[in-house]
Amino acid sequence: MSGFLFPERFVWGAATAAYQIEGAAKEDGRGPSIWDTYSHTPGRVRNGDTGDVAADHYHRWAEDLGHLAELGVRAYRFSISWPRVQPGGAGAVNPAGVDFYARLVDRLLDLGIQPVATLYHWDLPQELEDAGGWPARDTALRFADYAAGIVGALGDRVHTWTTLNEPWCSAYLGYASGVHAPGRTEPAAALAAVHHLNLAHGLAGRVIRDLAPAALLSVTLNLHVLRPASDSTADRDVVRRIDALANRAFLGPMLDGAYPADLLADTAAVTDWSFVRDGDERIAAAPLDVLGVNYYATTLVRAWDGKSPRSEADGHGESAHTPWVGAGDVEFLPQPGPHTAMGWNIDPGGLTELLLRLHREYPGQPLMITENGAAFDDVVAPDGAVHDDRRVDYLRRHVAAVADAMVRGADVRGYFVWSLLDNFEWAYGYDRRFGIIRVDYDTLARTWKDSAHWYRRLVAANRLPDA
Ligand code: FCB
Repeated sequence: MSGFLFPERFVWGAATAAYQIEGAAKEDGRGPSIWDTYSHTPGRVRNGDTGDVAADHYHRWAEDLGHLAELGVRAYRFSISWPRVQPGGAGAVNPAGVDFYARLVDRLLDLGIQPVATLYHWDLPQELEDAGGWPARDTALRFADYAAGIVGALGDRVHTWTTLNEPWCSAYLGYASGVHAPGRTEPAAALAAVHHLNLAHGLAGRVIRDLAPAALLSVTLNLHVLRPASDSTADRDVVRRIDALANRAFLGPMLDGAYPADLLADTAAVTDWSFVRDGDERIAAAPLDVLGVNYYATTLVRAWDGKSPRSEADGHGESAHTPWVGAGDVEFLPQPGPHTAMGWNIDPGGLTELLLRLHREYPGQPLMITENGAAFDDVVAPDGAVHDDRRVDYLRRHVAAVADAMVRGADVRGYFVWSLLDNFEWAYGYDRRFGIIRVDYDTLARTWKDSAHWYRRLVAANRLPDA
């Protein structure tokens, strides 16, 4: 794919999320979120790290937008902190919170950079969790109310509104395995959370259509690319079941307007899905202008023999409780390397495969890579530079994989690198670095890694370099 020239309107971008970069956890009226509570609970996050300061983007936002401008990107994907805009998750918006994002959006527009705003990147107001969290239907209604407040204020100055980031993680890591906030381990509640996130997406989608008719509507999913360990009937059936939990639990309602029958049957022992009310699936199926795809690695599965120790290397953190509700008889196998510092396997072909699947199953649905990138143990050279060759290689191969899918017909509109900056990597705290720009957590100084220089050249050329 070297030499591939991307379409002129292809959107190169960089992505971040509020809790991971902003800090200023108690400033200007921001309320607590489930990630504040979780990160302040001993034993939950590596080294006891919290997002209290993070990359201090709340104070350094103007400098950070300067880096985006220097990179030459056409778009910036950021998320809006619900507890900053609507502390407590109910009632009037907090003007200081709204102002922060209004300033950000206005500066982006001045710089000629499209604002791509995610409404929910995992930071639920703690009060809403106390009232039941995502397993409670009311949270979806609250989300629509929050959406009305912030979309009403920013409207179609935001180029693309994304309702949710990776609802798979919110539901299953938050409520089944507990490795993400709020850290609950209740399988039936996790499936209720799946549904209320789908409903929240649809309800907010309607709000966005009403209040920002010129903006694009999207959602970002972390779809899993599943590989069976063998061609046996049992392993192929495991792929079907995990595909239902991981992928079709969201694609079904959001794009087809219905949950897949096999998902409901496979999980019947966990829940009767009676929390799905008439009309909910129709609401969830808000027509999308773009479907956001986050991609990092693939997943290798096998039917468990019931005897040997069950391998659970699914890449989603360690817990005594599986995120794979109702699939306790499935094994997730370690994969051959190379791996990133997350232990995730590097397999760019999986991205091509995923884009082609979506193109085949949802023809005409524009796609956007909303996250792709890699954590490595960066080394600062004596001159202060970071020669992150492996990250450059990862990015180059994945951008080539996108090009490959486009040549084969997939309608991919853009690519956002994860991430603009090193940041708070959830349960891994500051122990994992995904940025193309390094953050020194003592001084909070930003330094371009080689990958940032490489990305700037890619964006300027709009074509993959020959090497
Ligand atoms: C995704 C998240 C993002 C970041 C990357 C590494 O699951 O959306 O916030 O943590 O993984």
